[in-house]
Amino acid sequence: MSHSPDLRRIAILGSGAGTNARAICEYAQSRQDSYRVALIVSTSETAGMCSVARDFDIELMVLPPTGDYSAILIQALHERGIELLALAGFMRLLPSAVIEHMRGNVLNIHPALLPAFGGKGMYGIRVHQAVLDAQAPTTGATVHLVSPMYDEGAIIAQSEIAVPEGVAATELQGLVKQLEHSLYPAAISAFLRKK
Ligand code: GRF
Repeated sequence: MSHSPDLRRIAILGSGAGTNARAICEYAQSRQDSYRVALIVSTSETAGMCSVARDFDIELMVLPPTGDYSAILIQALHERGIELLALAGFMRLLPSAVIEHMRGNVLNIHPALLPAFGGKGMYGIRVHQAVLDAQAPTTGATVHLVSPMYDEGAIIAQSEIAVPEGVAATELQGLVKQLEHSLYPAAISAFLRKK
C-alpha cells in the first residue's frame, strides 16, 4: 500500500476471519488521506488476519501462543509510531500495560448495541442468539474504547438495524457484519480526526 508518510498510523489486532480488518484496509486504501494500517497483529498463523496482511502488503506480527506478550507488542507499537490500536475479533484479554501504553487509544467493535448483549461470554454467534432469545426489536454494532474490562469503555459509534422476523442467528450475524464493515473504518477515521 503506498501512502503519504505523514498519515496517522494504526495497527489492527485480531484472532479470526479478519473481515473487519479487510474492511479497514480497503477503506484506508481507497481514501488515501485517512490513515495508514502499518501493522496487523494476529494470535495465530492460520487466522484470516494473516491473508489480509498479505493481500494488502502490510507487516504481520503473530503473537506467541502462550505467556505475557505485552512487552513485545508494546515495543512493536512504539517502534512503528502507532497512534491507534483497533481490535477486530481479538479473542484474548488485552493486557492493561498495552492499554496504558496506547494512552487509551484502543478501539474495539462488538456485534450488538452495547451496553445490551455485551460482557463476558458474549461473542460470536452467542450474541445473536441472545438477541433473538430476548426478542429484541433491533440490533447492530458498537465501536467503543477499550478499558481493562470487556465491552465497558465509552461508546464512540453505533449502527442499528431492525431484527427481521424469523431470521436465524447465523443470518443475523451476517447482517450485523455488513454493518460492522461500514461502521468501523469510518469510526476509526472520525476518532483520529477528533484527537
Ligand atoms: C466481529 O463480529 C466483531 O464484532 C467481533 O468479532 C468479530 C470479528 O469478525 N468483535 P472478523 O474476524 O472481523 O470477521
